[in-house]
Amino acid sequence: MINDSVFDKFPNLETERLIFRQLVMEDASEIQFIRSNEEVMRFLDNDNHLTLEVSQKFISTNLESYLAHNGLHWVIIEKSSNHLIGDFAFWKLDKKNHRAEIGYTLKPQFWGQGFMFESMSALINFGFKEFNLHSIEANINPANENSRKLLVKMGFKKEAYFRENYFYNGTYLDSEIYSLLESDFNK
Ligand SMILES: CC(C)(COP(=O)(O)OP(=O)(O)OC[C@H]1O[C@@H](n2cnc3c(N)ncnc32)[C@H](O)[C@@H]1OP(=O)(O)O)[C@@H](O)C(=O)NCCC(=O)NCCS
Repeated sequence: MINDSVFDKFPNLETERLIFRQLVMEDASEIQFIRSNEEVMRFLDNDNHLTLEVSQKFISTNLESYLAHNGLHWVIIEKSSNHLIGDFAFWKLDKKNHRAEIGYTLKPQFWGQGFMFESMSALINFGFKEFNLHSIEANINPANENSRKLLVKMGFKKEAYFRENYFYNGTYLDSEIYSLLESDFNK
């Protein structure tokens, strides 16, 4: 069973270099900064946050999702600089099958330093051990090499390749699905 008590008090967590805390409305300008960056958005296949209002709406949707016990959305803070460097979410929660999808971004200046690997290691551990997920899914644009590399390093296995199943901006895009079982993670 999914551990619903994580929705009573938001699970703020930390690792050696990072703090993970709940995404809140005050983060809107940082979220807009990330989600209007071309490098970040290149393979996200979601609309750019052209205005602050778009980010505010994004945050309120995610806060509502938490209140409805449907998802968890953290921002990632680098401890040494107290800088918001990215975000990580469990969403599309499939309670019956104890499964969730993950989404994540880092500001490009923080790529290549293992920050998302460190984040995923902690948050996926939380997902299996505390949240009681059985499996975790990631859906990537097949051209998103950085994301694929990270998922494979985390132990995710390729599960499916959907051809032209995602209609975005007038184009049908392919999707690659990766998944991690709790038993893969513990190996
Ligand atoms: C996906 C994304 C988060 C990956 O970021 P990343 O910096 O490549 O991933 P990590 O933070 O785990 O860093 C890994 C890199 O740091 C290096 N590294 C340096 N120090 C490290 C450490 N202490 N631990 C682990 N890796 C370390 C690794 O060797 C690796 O570099 P390489 O790719 O040259 O081999 C980033 O590309 C991104 O934000 N993309 C845009 C948004 C996006 O596409 N999200 C995914 C949607 S599905």
